[in-house]
Amino acid sequence: MDTAAEAASRTRINPVVELARDGEVAVLTVDSPPVNALSAQVREGLVEGIRQTDADPAVKAVVLHCAGRTFFAGADISEFGKPPKHPNLPEVVDIIEASTKPVIAALHGTALGGGLETALACHYRLAVPSAKCGFPEVKLGLLPGAGGTQRLPRLVGPERALDLVTSGSQISAKAAQEMGIVDELVEEGSLPASAIAFARKVVAENRPLKKVRDLDDKIEAARGRPEIFDDFRKANARKFRGFQAPEYNIRCVEAAVNLPFDEGIRLERQLFQELVSGEQSAAQRHVFFAERQVWKIPDISDDTPTLPVKKVGIIGAGTMGGGISMNFANAGLPVTIVEAKPEALERGLSVIRRNYESTAKKGRMTAEDVERRMELLTGSLDLSALADCDLIIEAVFENMAIKKEIFTKLDAIAKPGAILATNTSYLNVNEIAAMTKRPEHVLGMHFFSPANVMRLLEVVRGEKTDKRVIATAMQLGRKIGKIAVLVGVCHGFVGNRMLEPRQREANRLVLEGAMPWDVDRVLYDFGFPMGPFAMADLAGLDIGWSRETSKGETVREILCEQDRRGQKTGAGFYDYDENRKAKPSGLVEQIILDLSAKKGITRRAISDQEILERCVYSMVNEGAKILEEGIAIRSSDIDIVWINGYGWPVYRGGPMFYGEQVGLAKVLERLRDYEAKLGPEFKPSALLERLASEGRGFREL
Ligand code: 3HC
Repeated sequence: MDTAAEAASRTRINPVVELARDGEVAVLTVDSPPVNALSAQVREGLVEGIRQTDADPAVKAVVLHCAGRTFFAGADISEFGKPPKHPNLPEVVDIIEASTKPVIAALHGTALGGGLETALACHYRLAVPSAKCGFPEVKLGLLPGAGGTQRLPRLVGPERALDLVTSGSQISAKAAQEMGIVDELVEEGSLPASAIAFARKVVAENRPLKKVRDLDDKIEAARGRPEIFDDFRKANARKFRGFQAPEYNIRCVEAAVNLPFDEGIRLERQLFQELVSGEQSAAQRHVFFAERQVWKIPDISDDTPTLPVKKVGIIGAGTMGGGISMNFANAGLPVTIVEAKPEALERGLSVIRRNYESTAKKGRMTAEDVERRMELLTGSLDLSALADCDLIIEAVFENMAIKKEIFTKLDAIAKPGAILATNTSYLNVNEIAAMTKRPEHVLGMHFFSPANVMRLLEVVRGEKTDKRVIATAMQLGRKIGKIAVLVGVCHGFVGNRMLEPRQREANRLVLEGAMPWDVDRVLYDFGFPMGPFAMADLAGLDIGWSRETSKGETVREILCEQDRRGQKTGAGFYDYDENRKAKPSGLVEQIILDLSAKKGITRRAISDQEILERCVYSMVNEGAKILEEGIAIRSSDIDIVWINGYGWPVYRGGPMFYGEQVGLAKVLERLRDYEAKLGPEFKPSALLERLASEGRGFREL
């Protein structure tokens, strides 16, 4: 397509940056797949490109454009934590802004983080309508460190800047244009030609070199008004709890308003350096890569054929079955829900409708969306209604006999090739699969409650599950917006298996000397949304409890016997007021003291450190056993399970990452100490011992 003349005017600056000439307009094109991250090579190429265009008197304007699917998606995250390479991004951005020729950024795809900062240093910005912009740094425990916190408020005002940098969310090109980030929208697919035409116009009209750093009109009204920032902090305190980066972002925006540009940049640089070398950002960057790694299964290649899933069947219209059904309806798949009793089916369907309607009321979907989704859902009282489903997920009561009976029946009803999944949270998937003549088509799909909200999906691989079936389940997980983690069969798989030692220790600590609110406070302060006892009150203490079989041997059993069954009865481990606010209970304290005495335990003062170590290190140890047994593919998968299914604070990277951050040798030493004092529950896993002695981490396995 290129004419000979055009080809002649192309110069390759380095393997990823090319400089082309179209008359008086130079086009700098970066092609560094997959997402044009601003790696050292890209930065070098950009600096050299600008040097050449500046030096060339024939060039009157420069278009900055990226090949492939996106404009720069940000700094190269994999470079963080390594020795810095020059030119760094702030230097590149300064060089672009200081160009003597107007530089026009041509945005498509996702212009994120350092990518958007680069665009903000250009003198003009164009975007195709499908382009998106954002500053996702906060999600990596960072702040925009190449002038973004200083330039953005000058373009959009501090209020919007605060929202953008602390949420990390993306906005559309249109919204960016309305806010003043983007100067003009150009036709989809027209880049770079439309940008070249725009550049010609800039030259012809002799338009100025518009520098964002010089703007003041959007920030001057906020100058000397600290309440704007304090109110924002207060309004978001809950959301930001425990995170360091949001506050640092706010401080930078505040500086943009109150300080001269260069001083603001200095503060931004200093705070960025602090964050990037800190523990939280290391953890959040680990999570970024872990979330992408989780889809990669060593023995199942990306090109493994998947089975078509056009229709889904769900058995059980309870909380789990209903939530699971919503996921598929949201993705546009027809779902048949089977229940045993008409009232239960009716109830289940109306709960789903209510959920959708409440979403619509919040403005997050339209009334038509609600109807469209409800139309995709069909109720039935007959299992044979599932005969034409490609995937059937059983979500009934957690009872092996019932599940076995259902799978026996399903095997006779489901069409050949259909995938049969169980949503069991603990039971042996191999045993369930063995009830069918097609164990290779059986697997676990373990959703987390509320299943339409929680991102985690544990895909449980049975010993006979076919690779295509696993690939299909993983792909479907992605389609319905989950983060799917492949795990093996064991009691409780990854998530619930690791919950057990934490729960065990929480219960023991209470009998040995702590109170439930002590344990809860320590875990809440660690970053969990709530502690195990508050969580138990929320879920209901009588799950799996019955008066007939209650032995009154645990605090929980005694509470249930006294009809303190959690929040729903207004009392459990805590007392609850009319606003469901929890208060420590004197009665519960007495129950605990009595039970300790009855068991002959001499209570003692227990430090917060001990609470944390026993609850959390025992999880790290269990995680190590899970790895050792091959139940999880890699330690970062375990981290993903705990972050997305159990509220592990993302800024602590997941239990396995946290164990490494503490130091495996230290974890091991504490486990040995507790083993000696408290018993074999703390026996360190062989893998942990080996890694600690070799000075290695889980990630190096
Ligand atoms: N640096 C390094 N690698 C990156 C990257 C980045 N900024 N962004 C994406 N990648 C890698 C991913 O790890 C993945 O690698 P893999 O194929 O080996 O797993 C590959 O690129 C493709 O990424 P996705 O699978 O995420 O592709 P999607 O199409 O789903 O999403 C995206 C594309 C929206 C650009 C998404 O990748 C994304 O959100 N990237 C991160 C954006 C970001 O956080 N930018 C800010 C960086 S920090 C910064 O700029 C600091 C500055 O202020 C100084």
